[in-house]
Amino acid sequence: MKTKSVSKDAWGSRVGLILAMAGNAVGLGNFLRFPVQAVQNGGGAFILPYIVCFLIMGIPLLLIEWSSGRYGGKFNNHSTPYIMDGLGKSNVWKYVGVFGIFTNVAVVAYYTYIESWTLSYILHSLLGTFEGMSQGEVAGFFSSYTDISSSTTGIPYEAVLFYLLVLGLNVFILSRGLGGIEKVAKIGMPLLILFGLILAAKGLTMGESGKSELFPDASALDGLNFLWTPQFDSLLSPKVWLAAAGQIFFTLSVGLGTIQCYAAYIEANEDIALNAVSAGFLNEFVEVVLGSSIVIPIAAGYLGLDWVMENAGFGMAFQTMPFLFQQWGEAMAAFSGVLWFGLLFFAGITSSLAMGTPWMGFMKDEFGWGKSKGALSFGLLALIMGLPTVLFYQQGVFDEYDYWAGTVSLVVFALLESILFSWVFGINKGWREINEGSDIHIPTIYKYIIKYITPFLLLIIFSGALVTPQDNEWAENFSRLSMGESWQLDNNSIIRQLFHSGLKQELSATKSPISKTMLE
Ligand code: ALA
Repeated sequence: MKTKSVSKDAWGSRVGLILAMAGNAVGLGNFLRFPVQAVQNGGGAFILPYIVCFLIMGIPLLLIEWSSGRYGGKFNNHSTPYIMDGLGKSNVWKYVGVFGIFTNVAVVAYYTYIESWTLSYILHSLLGTFEGMSQGEVAGFFSSYTDISSSTTGIPYEAVLFYLLVLGLNVFILSRGLGGIEKVAKIGMPLLILFGLILAAKGLTMGESGKSELFPDASALDGLNFLWTPQFDSLLSPKVWLAAAGQIFFTLSVGLGTIQCYAAYIEANEDIALNAVSAGFLNEFVEVVLGSSIVIPIAAGYLGLDWVMENAGFGMAFQTMPFLFQQWGEAMAAFSGVLWFGLLFFAGITSSLAMGTPWMGFMKDEFGWGKSKGALSFGLLALIMGLPTVLFYQQGVFDEYDYWAGTVSLVVFALLESILFSWVFGINKGWREINEGSDIHIPTIYKYIIKYITPFLLLIIFSGALVTPQDNEWAENFSRLSMGESWQLDNNSIIRQLFHSGLKQELSATKSPISKTMLE
């Protein structure tokens, strides 16, 4: 393993480190992905598997990643290829680390695009663009925004301009090094929590005040009850488990390599156990308490739970919320829009900055590149990979990135790193690393969870995603199999996605690809 003699950066303070790590985790996933996943997977039915996944997969992976990173830092390694090479002492692990870096760049490529929407929507909230618009018009505004060729938002090529602006901002902050990231986290995280608390207070106190003739059953409380009434039968549904595990990965930013890179700058004898658990729980507070108290109750408060269940989707944040804010009057609509999209902006940027550090760390480890060169090259790479998501959003490029980089790759990387940590580096050495300098006692049971349960679960999750049955009907497919019939794969299974089977089916169902595009 190489050790290098580059100058040693370090986090300015423990609070700064925890906020930066929490900022890495708290992201768009907490406010856009979590509520939608919860609604689509049965509300309260989702929460139990989600909590179990947090405890037996999330916390172990946090401990693995924090300790691997700090261990790498002892040898002046700052990127997953070098950190993993140091743990595994084989070039194979270096390539796994490189795979992690490309996952990061691919996620950041589409993630910064969403981030740029939030900035643009802050501006439009202030300008009063959504004033007097109907629900359909607000939704139409979003479609027009993302359709570069026919954008009618008032600013030519607005989506591209804001994307470049946000990418430039990320590059600038990254070029300031850890100090810049820490500063953004120290400002952004408290503001995000404050904005979230104000909006959540509104969501939690709305009750039935949003009822209308059109939606006589609207009630914010129905939304909350739906999310918070546990249903034990969900424990038997693989579909819900897969969704819960996927959400835990995305929200904690595990399997991405960002945590290792941040942790590489922690002093050798400094605590990681308490820091890891604190940052993890802070993320869960923001996700479970704030994330579930804004979009769903407010939307259910005006449109009713049935509407929410039918329409729950990632676009609600941009297509529905600006319309609902209008119901609070002109000034409150502008104020709430700034709070909501401001919250999303801070959530996004503190995560995308973290996704820049693996590439920068690798350039530093491999070529000794400084911060400015590292940040600029990262920006360029993100731009090259990200522009297709901007230009061809409506053609589904964004979704492809989200599927392969933001979903599948995280699980693959986490599976490999948990095998490396427990079985190649060795759990005894690993457990010593986790506990070195620790300010809390991690229950010894976690040593066994990390060694056996976490990799086993990851393997199950990966296998489940590989062969997801049609319409997620697991029980039905198992019984078909027991009767000698074949397993029907869903178009969302990895195998089918690899062969673009769904797309081929769609295309053959239309006369020509052109007619399909025109129909959309
Ligand atoms: N953890 C980040 C999020 O939730 C990626 O958005």
